[in-house]
Amino acid sequence: MHRYPYSMGEEIVGEQLVDPFGRTVRDLRISVTDRCNFRCQYCMPAEGMQWLPREEILSFEEIERFARICINYFGFDGIRLTGGEPLVRAHLPELVERLALLGVDTALTTNGATLRMHAKALAEAGLKRINISLDSLQPERFLELTRRDELDRVLDGIAAAVDAGLKPVKINAVMMRGINDDEIVDFAEFGRDKGLTVRFIEFMPLEAGDVWNEDLVVPADEIVEKINKAIPIEPIVRGSEPAERWRYLDGKGEVGVIASVTKPFCGDCDRVRLTAEGQFRTCLFAVDEFDMRSLLRSEANDEEIANAIVDAVGTKWAGHSIGQVNFIRPSRTMSQIGG
Ligand code: 5AD
Ligand code: SF4
Repeated sequence: MHRYPYSMGEEIVGEQLVDPFGRTVRDLRISVTDRCNFRCQYCMPAEGMQWLPREEILSFEEIERFARICINYFGFDGIRLTGGEPLVRAHLPELVERLALLGVDTALTTNGATLRMHAKALAEAGLKRINISLDSLQPERFLELTRRDELDRVLDGIAAAVDAGLKPVKINAVMMRGINDDEIVDFAEFGRDKGLTVRFIEFMPLEAGDVWNEDLVVPADEIVEKINKAIPIEPIVRGSEPAERWRYLDGKGEVGVIASVTKPFCGDCDRVRLTAEGQFRTCLFAVDEFDMRSLLRSEANDEEIANAIVDAVGTKWAGHSIGQVNFIRPSRTMSQIGG
């Protein structure tokens, strides 16, 4: 049974994948590992994480095949690799190369700690864009937040990404009330000095009732106001991307704010996700997962996998309900989903 025209051989069909709310899905985020060399307070416990055994993790061949199906059948145009920390997966540039050869925009989200070692190989493999997560510019605070004394390594990793010619290099800083929101202007100035776009992200309170609660959310409007007071900015007309963008009036770069909580961008969401063990998720906060690994390891052909993707996307919901009574916390941590 064919529910849409499908490709024969290498021919690309370009039929779009549209969810029940009319959004076209075309962006795939792939977690390549659940492991991480950091232990960020809001993401993982200090000790006792149980890692997936090797055989449960998708191989590069399996990831490449899944990506190829998304591209050939549905015209996906972007793939982002995440983790855990994607660079702890051995030979990651090899995967980047395979994906880049499929002709899509290939991106990476990393904590930057080992980027000095890998930036050149990643650039040569065809990586385009890179986002580096960094929540504090103060060494002691960085240690407290990530439980690793590695601020200098991350800063050096950022420099390495620039040296390697990766473009754009973006810094993602999650703002938390009373924890690092006194660094908003410092981050803005850091970005301007280094010629990098900093994007402030509203903290998403996932662990209801715990210390990581909604009191920590610093609204995007407040972030913008603080920056504007110190260094005047004006809005840049926005596309469908989640970040609200602002340019500095003196022409020295731009800054972004991602208001995941106060102004959810679910209405424009074009994303789906694949976890490291091959579970397909239609939302960061989805409750259901679709087991693509079993299909990839069965006799299923590409068309059957494409049909399974269509079925899964048919369950994509309108948006998350953070802060509402009906919010259900996903049974996985951010590191297991891929952020
Ligand atoms: N709220 C917002 N961002 C988060 N991240 C991890 N947990 C949260 C959260 N609760 C971010 C990381 C990184 C990306 C992978 O996800 O800081 O930038
Ligand atoms: Fe690692 Fe990212 Fe989680 Fe921090 S937030 S522990 S860097 S996966």
